[in-house]
Amino acid sequence: MLELARVSVARGELRVVRDLELTVSAGEMVALLGPNGAGKTSTIMAIAGHVPVVEGTIRFEGRSIDTLSPPERTRLGLGLVPEGRRIFPDLTVRENLVVGGYLLSRGEAQKREREVTALFPRLEERRQQRAGTLSGGEQQMLSIARALMVRPRLLLVDELSLGLMPAVVDLCFEVLVRLCREQGLACLVVEQNTQKILTVADRVTVLSAGRTVWQGTAEEARADEALIDRMLGLEAG
Ligand SMILES: Nc1ncnc2c1ncn2[C@@H]1O[C@H](COP(=O)(O)OP(=O)(O)O)[C@@H](O)[C@H]1O
Ligand SMILES: [Mg+2]
Repeated sequence: MLELARVSVARGELRVVRDLELTVSAGEMVALLGPNGAGKTSTIMAIAGHVPVVEGTIRFEGRSIDTLSPPERTRLGLGLVPEGRRIFPDLTVRENLVVGGYLLSRGEAQKREREVTALFPRLEERRQQRAGTLSGGEQQMLSIARALMVRPRLLLVDELSLGLMPAVVDLCFEVLVRLCREQGLACLVVEQNTQKILTVADRVTVLSAGRTVWQGTAEEARADEALIDRMLGLEAG
């Protein structure tokens, strides 16, 4: 579904990702790992169309999307759950979802709003609450639900677990895994919580200073967790 071929990403004059080869198939969850500054967010933002690709090609369902704007990519089926969640704190939960569904007709948006809040009962209870008053975990659920409004076929998720309680992280990943298995959603997930992500992802790519330093299945990564931890700059053991 998603295919990056020798992709280099720039921030200003600087190349922060080089020669990245990456694929994500329908129904698959792929983890993008790496220490701070490795280029994970830049990769996600390049796929979403917010940061320029200076070499290589990004294909979505076989077609190059390099020249498409972010809204055009959204329309094709790319959803983004950005680093830091980026919900609108002064809008209610419902209004945040309406913004996420801006491409939909009114009737469709209402139907979809019921479907995405059904995935997260906590949001259903808080539909009329100002998003800024939600807990961090609820804000993350809202960010995911908002991205799901337009029925993306590929979801890009940047740092889902940061600052959240383990139970909330488990719940969010449960929902994503279910959508992968049952609806063929493809997920590309940037995650600091290595232990968690290695139990839910199918394949793993590790970046360091913009270069790919490891690629393999999550099973292979679990079998060699000390190696992965070393690449992430974490203490082994
Ligand atoms: N807006 C920006 N402008 C210039 N450089 C940036 C910007 N954002 C990130 N960078 C640089 O790009 C590199 C990769 O950053 P980033 O993609 O955020 O890494 P990660 O998400 O893996 O921590 C870092 O060297 C960072 O300093
Ligand atoms: Mg980042």
